[in-house]
Amino acid sequence: ACELPNVRVNCIPEGGRSETEDVCLERGCCWAKEETPSCFYPKGFGYAVDGQPADTSTGKTVNLTRKTGQPSQYGGDIKTVRVDIFYETSYRLRVKLWDPRKKRYEVPLPTPEPQGQASNPLYKVSISREDSFSFTVQRTSASRDIFSTATGLILSSQYLQLTGILPSDNIYGLGEHAMDRFKLLTNNSVLTLFSRDQPPNPDKPGQNLYGVHPFYLCMEQDGSSHGVFLLNSNAMEIELGPLPSVTYRTIGGILDFYFFLGPSPEAVVQQYTEVIGRPFMPPYWSLGFHLCRWGYDTANNTLKVVERMRDSGIPQDTQWNDIDYMSEHLDFTYNTTTFAELPDLISNLHSHGQHYVLITDPGIGSTQPRGSYPPYDDGVTMGIFITNSTHQPIIGVVWPGEVAFPDFTNPHTQIYWDKFVSLFHSNISFDGLWIDMNEPSNFVPGSLDGCPNTSINNPPFLPGVYHEGLIDIFGIIKKTLCMSANQSASLHYNVHSLYGFSEANKTMRALEKVLGNRSLVISRSTFPGSGVFGGHWLGDNESKYRHMQNSITGILDFSLFGIPLVGADICGFSGSTTEELCTRWMQLGAFYPFSRNHNAIGEPAQDPAVFSNDSVASSRDVLLLRYRMLPFLYTLFHFAHVNGSTVARPLFFDPHSNIFCSSIRTHYFILILFLYSHSTVPIPLARFPKDQVTWDVDQQFMWGSAVLVTPVLVEGATSVEGYFPPGARWFNLRKGSEMTSSGHVALSAPLDTIPVHVRGGSIIALQEPNTTTTESRKNPFALLVALDDNQSGEGWLYWDDGETLATFETGTYSLLHFSVADGNLSSSVRHSGYTELDNAMLHLFTIYGLPSQPMSVALNNNPVPESDVEWNEDTKVLNVRVSLTDLNQPFTLTWK
Ligand code: NOJ
Repeated sequence: ACELPNVRVNCIPEGGRSETEDVCLERGCCWAKEETPSCFYPKGFGYAVDGQPADTSTGKTVNLTRKTGQPSQYGGDIKTVRVDIFYETSYRLRVKLWDPRKKRYEVPLPTPEPQGQASNPLYKVSISREDSFSFTVQRTSASRDIFSTATGLILSSQYLQLTGILPSDNIYGLGEHAMDRFKLLTNNSVLTLFSRDQPPNPDKPGQNLYGVHPFYLCMEQDGSSHGVFLLNSNAMEIELGPLPSVTYRTIGGILDFYFFLGPSPEAVVQQYTEVIGRPFMPPYWSLGFHLCRWGYDTANNTLKVVERMRDSGIPQDTQWNDIDYMSEHLDFTYNTTTFAELPDLISNLHSHGQHYVLITDPGIGSTQPRGSYPPYDDGVTMGIFITNSTHQPIIGVVWPGEVAFPDFTNPHTQIYWDKFVSLFHSNISFDGLWIDMNEPSNFVPGSLDGCPNTSINNPPFLPGVYHEGLIDIFGIIKKTLCMSANQSASLHYNVHSLYGFSEANKTMRALEKVLGNRSLVISRSTFPGSGVFGGHWLGDNESKYRHMQNSITGILDFSLFGIPLVGADICGFSGSTTEELCTRWMQLGAFYPFSRNHNAIGEPAQDPAVFSNDSVASSRDVLLLRYRMLPFLYTLFHFAHVNGSTVARPLFFDPHSNIFCSSIRTHYFILILFLYSHSTVPIPLARFPKDQVTWDVDQQFMWGSAVLVTPVLVEGATSVEGYFPPGARWFNLRKGSEMTSSGHVALSAPLDTIPVHVRGGSIIALQEPNTTTTESRKNPFALLVALDDNQSGEGWLYWDDGETLATFETGTYSLLHFSVADGNLSSSVRHSGYTELDNAMLHLFTIYGLPSQPMSVALNNNPVPESDVEWNEDTKVLNVRVSLTDLNQPFTLTWK
């Protein structure tokens, strides 16, 4: 007598020994042994709609009552539920399911306050009361349901569940996981989200790693895209089913969903970061190359490596130290024996225009004699540590031994953190901080004294990875604090996954105050909004080809998550690298937005200068190329900061292909379609989101919409196959030669080469490189113009001093737009607040994709002497040497 639902939602999600017919029937669910899952909720399991949905000033409200005779499986059902629907903007919808009778924890993330109701939304929400309550979000333009809730809605004390039926199985995001594919699998794969000190292991792709990002992007069949964000910070798992469907199972908080209607994928990310916060503007130097390892052991050894790098001519902006600089691994100390020369090392770096970053861990050593270690003593006096059930600092074990954990959700902790960051900085003038172990990691389960045996520490349902875990007796407190620990914002149970986020926030604030300038925070644990305060590296990968391959997916995921400053440990963290792997990884890593080579203790050196001359030459060449392209990369970060645009992006994100961005384009599109259907000649459409092949591409990536990187990821390979969407022109970035075919193309890539292409239609700003950004920034600019089929293109340059805080917000920047059409390239100065640009010089225009040699070239109507114009008939590249100063004034370059 089981009424079959349209989607089978697992009624025994904990699996294991519970998965029997008896348990299933006891839960009021349907049993079909041969199906997956065997036990599923019947049709109509959930809540009934009470009365009529009511209109409010911001949307709609619906009241629900738990259906009688349908208790959920883990007890503590919330009897009445309020559903608030906010039509926040035309592209953003919020649906919140909460308990109107009892205040429950909600994530303390500042989100936009709804202002009335959006007038012409791209979506429509309908409520159904048939069988039980459900709601459907529809994209109105296509009458397509993008999220339609199914049976099995549960809100109970420690278990909340909701299933949505999806319009397509092209789903991306939901981190942080070690995936060897960007597009997620929908074969009932379960992804756990709960911050954890867990190195990435591609053989366990659903395992929860350091950060938590309950956000996915979905590509609908026609190329429009939407995003869904569950604003919830409790331990959860997300199952993607074959229908396709998504099931959320979280063990606390409320169900608070945001829907972003795009419709371009790039717009979805912009709309998402509008809610969670736009990425910070990184200092220019932080886009240079970073070098680190655990186990330099002494300041002098560190300096030796820096000098080896200088001698090799490989660019390096920043040197880092790991925990071996500390005295007894204590924060805010340095070892005055082995690192006695640390202040000298830093002066040396600074005098070479280089920078210095060091690590801090959250655990504050708690066993130093009273009066000898102020970070602990003051923390106790100020009451800023996380506490146990007797309101004493909860004590765990990390590198220094016993430690207490600052509660970064406590506003007073800012004063504490500012004080110690500032005091330490007066001895050691670091330029940024690396915040590690902030899941938070703890080497003993819960605390030194264990944890109270309550349902908070032993929740009735443990998400995902922990089911295996009946084997793992520690369950949720494994490698972290007791869930019952007290923090200012809430129980650790609720705010656990916010630890790294809240630490990054306070660390960036402290650094900005101390330095009076932009700084760098790189955090291991992240949450939505972490990009506002810093970047991320992908944690403890291994020196293996597979890990190098997977890093691309990791980078693209964090682009979706609004944390564009991201990279993996180049050459691999644990295990020994090989020269070939490291050479290839340096080539790929030169295109990570955050480019850092980092190595584990005890492993052979892998800084790029340690290898053979050929390898050194390859690393030098590719990093000099990165440095040449930094003005372009920096400009991408500016647009990330102000619009939430992505920096590294998947091929299918290309915004030029966005047919929805203006009605003119839409009309144009309709016209093309008309012509297409009335002609026999196929007209290629350069629209990547429509090109479904691109939806699976995850071994290549773009910088903005202009540059496509096709790295070699396989041992011994000297060629690589890449995908080049038809309809666009692609030029070899270094040489300018145009690709003669499109689609899947095999490219030659000997060990010293990484294929990099520029898309016709782009103009990118370059600068002659040097081995530090400090020096590069003094060099002349150049413009690289890659023409599309219509001989046109465009691009931008954002320029400021690279370090002053809030240059955009205070107007102390320059913003130039470049466009080219019909032999006429011009700059338009949108803002000229960075007066230093008056003295900057542009010395070269390089133009790719001209059909033939121009007869004459003129700059601002003055003919350019023939001796300054160089034409290559083979590659059809035009180089025009000029001495153009005052870039805050518009210019024009013309050719005939
Ligand atoms: C763990 C970090 O992930 C790693 O990068 C670092 O080297 C070690 N901790 C030591 O601090």
